[in-house]
Amino acid sequence: MDVINEVCEILDLLYKHGWDERNGGNLSYIVTKEEVKTIVSEEKEIREFKYDFDMTPLIGKYFLITGTQKYFKNCLKDPVTNLGLLKVKDKHTLSLLWGYKDGGRPTSEAPTHLKCHIERLKIDPLHRLVCHCHPINIICMSHILELNEKKWTEILWKMQTESIVVFPEGIAVLPWIICGGEEIGEATATKMKEYRSVVWAQHGLFATGRSLDEVFGLIETIEKAAEIYMKICDKPIVQSITNENLKQLAKAFNINYRKGIID
Ligand code: 13P
Ligand code: ZN
Repeated sequence: MDVINEVCEILDLLYKHGWDERNGGNLSYIVTKEEVKTIVSEEKEIREFKYDFDMTPLIGKYFLITGTQKYFKNCLKDPVTNLGLLKVKDKHTLSLLWGYKDGGRPTSEAPTHLKCHIERLKIDPLHRLVCHCHPINIICMSHILELNEKKWTEILWKMQTESIVVFPEGIAVLPWIICGGEEIGEATATKMKEYRSVVWAQHGLFATGRSLDEVFGLIETIEKAAEIYMKICDKPIVQSITNENLKQLAKAFNINYRKGIID
């Protein structure tokens, strides 16, 4: 399967899970030169997009990025309108090589995505993907729980056995900040120095990782833990996962989990 199909399948699945209504959510994926060759036979610039922040660490990299105001629902049937293939041409410019056929442009969250890529690549050279979506139960939790990331991490780890295995670094949480702007972009990228996933209160989730499967799995696991929490949070708890249980898990699976939460 080619890279466009792989990306569109994930976008379709995200939509079908109900996490990307209308134009909600956006994705940016680092693609290799070999993958680029499967999309365009030669690199010809269609249009360029200017950004005022410094993209120097990304110069020469290629990205597939969802278009602004585009629906994940429509990507599989019409990728060339809903997605763009872009090259970081210089520190302030993205060059469009394919896509955005109707004159569109990258997601309004592109600066946040690109800043997250810069931070994650510093930590993990194999990092490739940033995905933003609007999972229902994560948003619900952000209405009823104080926005304390230690508390969120502890709760989500204790909702199901797999949580601490899948996100041992925990989860970061940001207060409501206007989306599409510099402040939320900077705040998200700063959290990405330590976390692969960042909650935007009353909005959604930013998740990052090495592959489409890894990031989809991370979103699924976080959202499932949030769903369990939302189903039980108003019920009397008779038994649950304890700090000791989590430590046993960490030992058995050799997990280097974030300290200061269950210790
Ligand atoms: P875009 O349509 O610009 O991608 O924005 C959707 C979104 O989820 C904003 O946070
Ligand atoms: Zn959003």
